[in-house]
Amino acid sequence: MHPPSPSRLLSGLVALCALTSAAHASDDESSSPSPSSSTTTTTSTVTPCVATSTNGAFYDLRPDTAVIPEKDVKLARGTHTEDYLARGYDYGYNITLNICAPVVKGVEDVVGLTSEGWSKIGAWYEKGGKVYSLGQESGALTPRGRKLVLQYTGGSPCEPPEDKDDKRKLASRGVHEGAAYSKYSDDEDEDRDHDQTDSDSDKDKQNSNASKEKVRRKSATISFLCDRSPDNPTAVSFVGTDPDECSYFFEVRSQHACAGAEPHKPGSVGPGGVFAIIFFIALAVYVIGGIFYQRTVVKQRGWRQLPNYTLWAGIWSFLKDTFIILTSSCARFLPIRRGYRSLSSSSRGRYGNNDDENRLIDQLDEEWDD
Ligand SMILES: *[C@@H]1O[C@H](CO)[C@@H](O)[C@H](O)[C@H]1NC(C)=O
Ligand SMILES: *[C@@H]1O[C@H](CO)[C@@H](O)[C@H](O)[C@H]1NC(C)=O
Repeated sequence: MHPPSPSRLLSGLVALCALTSAAHASDDESSSPSPSSSTTTTTSTVTPCVATSTNGAFYDLRPDTAVIPEKDVKLARGTHTEDYLARGYDYGYNITLNICAPVVKGVEDVVGLTSEGWSKIGAWYEKGGKVYSLGQESGALTPRGRKLVLQYTGGSPCEPPEDKDDKRKLASRGVHEGAAYSKYSDDEDEDRDHDQTDSDSDKDKQNSNASKEKVRRKSATISFLCDRSPDNPTAVSFVGTDPDECSYFFEVRSQHACAGAEPHKPGSVGPGGVFAIIFFIALAVYVIGGIFYQRTVVKQRGWRQLPNYTLWAGIWSFLKDTFIILTSSCARFLPIRRGYRSLSSSSRGRYGNNDDENRLIDQLDEEWDD
């Protein structure tokens, strides 16, 4: 009879508002469980760089992995796009490494590694123009008590044979420094040389026998420390090596190394789900029990047999009013500025509707009373 009533317009707006907020909520939900979904793909098996300790603490270090920024992919705030640099101080070289992934800036011509191994190097350093690997990357994060540890193994051979010989010569020269050094006149020296050649030939035999498998290779052990302050970016410190520079130790301070709660797996009921179930059971008990009581004991009929009818009716009318206010503010964001008009005309319509409802309910009540 007349154009769409203001109240219908309003209800449409309410629906629009609710829809947009719901869309936002679902966006948040889908993005929250995996903050780094853009950088790593989660697999159904063991996820690299994620660990759960025996006491239930959950760690996810994937946000600390340095990644190459792809075009058109927005990285999460604080994502590293460059490898970590650990200063070597007295060691005379700096170490470049990445966490749970190969170094972003690839290296080539690595000592003691074939070209297939170059792309998986997790840590390296350069010394004397040569690149040494500290191990192939790994995502096997291991909680060990209160420590969280990651280890890279299979780097460059620990002591290249020529280096060892150089060192030994240096050492023997050091021993005999200042003494009149003659190879064949000194018995002691002869013995020493015999020992040395013996051990050398032993070593050669070993090398020829189990040539490649027995080679000791450099490794890096990285320990993670929880640092809750959000201002401190993740930083890697070099701790030291063993005397023959075979095992390297690092310490990483990161806010992601703090124990957290494991995000619930899809399919299982999370804490929110448990709460919702309890809530709905309680609601069902309240409604069914209340209706039973009102019907049998108080002998109410119609809407009034609902438990605490007057209370809920009051809340309902309050909510309705709140909705009207919200929708009027919602309407203000629409290009057509008609918030006030629709509000004023809607209030008239609302009261009209209310009158209709009241009349209807009275009618029903009379019928029930009969
Ligand atoms: C190591 O890094 C520091 C600062 O990051 C720099 O001053 C130093 O020259 C570097 N040392 C080497 C050997 O590259
Ligand atoms: C060499 O290898 C053989 C068989 O693999 C083994 O029996 C032998 O003990 C090895 N010798 C050395 C010196 O390692």
